[in-house]
Amino acid sequence: MRIGLLGYGVVGAGVDHLAQRLEGVSVEKVLCLNVGDVPGGRGVADISAIIDDPEIDTVVEAMGGLHPAWEFASGALKAGKHYITANKALVSAFLPELVELAKENGVALRCTAAVGGGIPWLVNIERCRRVDSIRRIHGIFNGTTNFILDAMHRDGAEFERVLAQAQKLGYAEADPSADIDGDDVRRKLVISTAAAFGKLIRESDVPMFGIRTVTAQDVLNFKALGKVCKLIARAESGEKIKASVEPVLIPAGAPESAVPENFNLVTYESENAGVQSFFGQGAGRYPTAYNVVQDCLDVCGGKNDFYTKQYVAAEVDNRDVLRCYYVRTSASDAWLQSVAATQGDGYIVTRAVSQADFHAHVRELQSRDHRLFFAAVE
Ligand code: HSE
Repeated sequence: MRIGLLGYGVVGAGVDHLAQRLEGVSVEKVLCLNVGDVPGGRGVADISAIIDDPEIDTVVEAMGGLHPAWEFASGALKAGKHYITANKALVSAFLPELVELAKENGVALRCTAAVGGGIPWLVNIERCRRVDSIRRIHGIFNGTTNFILDAMHRDGAEFERVLAQAQKLGYAEADPSADIDGDDVRRKLVISTAAAFGKLIRESDVPMFGIRTVTAQDVLNFKALGKVCKLIARAESGEKIKASVEPVLIPAGAPESAVPENFNLVTYESENAGVQSFFGQGAGRYPTAYNVVQDCLDVCGGKNDFYTKQYVAAEVDNRDVLRCYYVRTSASDAWLQSVAATQGDGYIVTRAVSQADFHAHVRELQSRDHRLFFAAVE
């Protein structure tokens, strides 16, 4: 396999290092801004040096972002090159187009590192579905937010200080809003839903709330309630898909509550195998690079499918999902008061309400209180 690598940042450089250990795999050229950063004179500044090179059979992308990643991906696939990427924004937004282009050109499309960093999540979903059907997926899919919440629970740390630390350690996305507002998790959920259920849902249809506004006082409140806060994505299969990304207060003692630092814990439930969970490094240079080079080896071994053979478009519908919510807001609101079950010091916990109604209502409330925080309570 002769690789053209796109990007030489945290993940790209890691892929280059790990690929050096593999027999029959070589990184021939690297597209990056500072070509001098790439050892061996392999740096190139123009994508055509890779796409037009007939000696390169595989393009590995570790840049991130939608553009020019989409133009590079479609160019590479049309040129008959396998495409391996860690870019969840690209795959989540352009999944049908990418799958179609890969099929038309008879090449492989793989993105195992895009969900769960170094965890063998998508490949086990693929394996499970050979003999079983997956009904539900859920879990902690973001290392940065887990790192922040864990530190806030352990040390009473302030949100901003821990975020800066996570960025320094290379866990956070280039723009950390994608982590803390939930977009990164939502992209991973869209990709996982496609692989697990064969259903394509739209990112914008999945209700999402992040952890940007959580405070040290909220964490004290969670502890008083005997709970641990985690950012959880979940999806359930059906004619319509139930799917959400939101903070959840988990009983201390449940497996997710014990997930430390930047680790992820992701779970599927299938008809025959039951519950299977995967714990590991969801972010960082070498865990992510590990799954990228695993994809290279799988493609070398002839794997061509994008985790499942068939995809159909599906809608998201959370009207029947009933959940109780912790809400801390300075805005007074009649609807919220009408659904309050308990009143704490500066917060309420609602009775079970429709998740779809709750998210719609809170979006409106946020325009009056942008520091509002909520979490589902389990
Ligand atoms: N920023 C992501 C995370 C990287 O923190 O999980 C891996 O997708």
